[in-house]
Amino acid sequence: MNSELVRSCFAKQFDGATGKLFASPGRINLIGEHTDYNGGFVFPGAIDKGMIAEIQPNGTDKVRAFSIDLNDFAEFGLNEEDAPKASWARYIFGVCREMIKRGVDVKGFNTAFAGDVPLGAGMSSSAALESTYAFALNKLFGEDKIDKFELAKVGQSTEHNYCGVNCGIMDQFASVFGKKDQLIRLDCRSLEYQYFPFHPQGYRLVLVDSVVKHELASSAYNKRRQSCETTVAAIQKKHPHVEFLRDCNMQMLEEVKDIVSAEDYMRSEYVIEEIQRVLDVCDALEIDDYETVGQKMYETHHGMSKLYEVSCEELDFLNDIAKECGVTGSRVMGGGFGGCTINLVKNELYDSFIAKAKEAFTTKFGREPKVYDVVISDGSRELV
Ligand code: GLA
Repeated sequence: MNSELVRSCFAKQFDGATGKLFASPGRINLIGEHTDYNGGFVFPGAIDKGMIAEIQPNGTDKVRAFSIDLNDFAEFGLNEEDAPKASWARYIFGVCREMIKRGVDVKGFNTAFAGDVPLGAGMSSSAALESTYAFALNKLFGEDKIDKFELAKVGQSTEHNYCGVNCGIMDQFASVFGKKDQLIRLDCRSLEYQYFPFHPQGYRLVLVDSVVKHELASSAYNKRRQSCETTVAAIQKKHPHVEFLRDCNMQMLEEVKDIVSAEDYMRSEYVIEEIQRVLDVCDALEIDDYETVGQKMYETHHGMSKLYEVSCEELDFLNDIAKECGVTGSRVMGGGFGGCTINLVKNELYDSFIAKAKEAFTTKFGREPKVYDVVISDGSRELV
């Protein structure tokens, strides 16, 4: 991430002024997709790519924001009716509003920001942006009184209330709580979490980006969530204690097979199995059993492709190539509908896998996939 660039653009935009710098990362997720809003487990880690923002209070009641990457400027007030039109600016506006709702006396500020986490690639660029501003506004206007979980929830509520995505808590949680070389298993119902040191001896984690953008996926995402909630409502009739799919097993799902639609059944089957897979992967990691980790990743891909139906031709193709090359584990990562596969590859297979993936993908789709090595890094912070 390039703080010099942000410094120089901020100075240019705001008459040579200097503010404070804040940064938050994107994330990977080893396993546990679409489980967060079902009260299940996720297993993410923050990465070395994210957003950096420079911010300086400006003594007015207006926010003046410059997106360096989009070369676009927006000015907006802090009241509910002041929402800006540009979607990138709505993230910042939403964070301001959510902080205000939590009692922080947010005032006007000047800001410029830039990032190196690719947009729409399933690495949570929007969560990185939200966490950066939530963390910064808490320091600048909130006397640091909002705790880290609430900062993650500020980002999540921004998505719900200002961006139209009914997401879970995983992305914002990982961005705020990330720690170098550690994955974090989060129980999304109790919000208990545990750091797991992650240095797979003899393996590398690599993302292969299909460069299919998932920007238009929010309505499909919300629809998946709706399916899960419909199934829960049906199961609750017989099992009133059930709150989430997390509380259900396959037998309970079987009981409502004739009541829910075939589609809702499939979606729920995937989620129930996926929640268990996270626990299996954590157990396998504890005994360095990477073969099992990899096998579970392939099972997740299969479920996301055939049951949850959030993969696409390009991602299925990359998954097949991984299998052919003997890659230990591979699957579509994040919400789906585009973006990356995450791959657990033996060191000695890395070069041949990447060469083959690039060549075969380019032959089939006429463009090269992008490749990102995963470096697990720290979460939200002030840069000094
Ligand atoms: C998106 C959402 C997350 C999570 C994942 C799928 O990244 O923002 O809350 O649901 O999809 O695991």
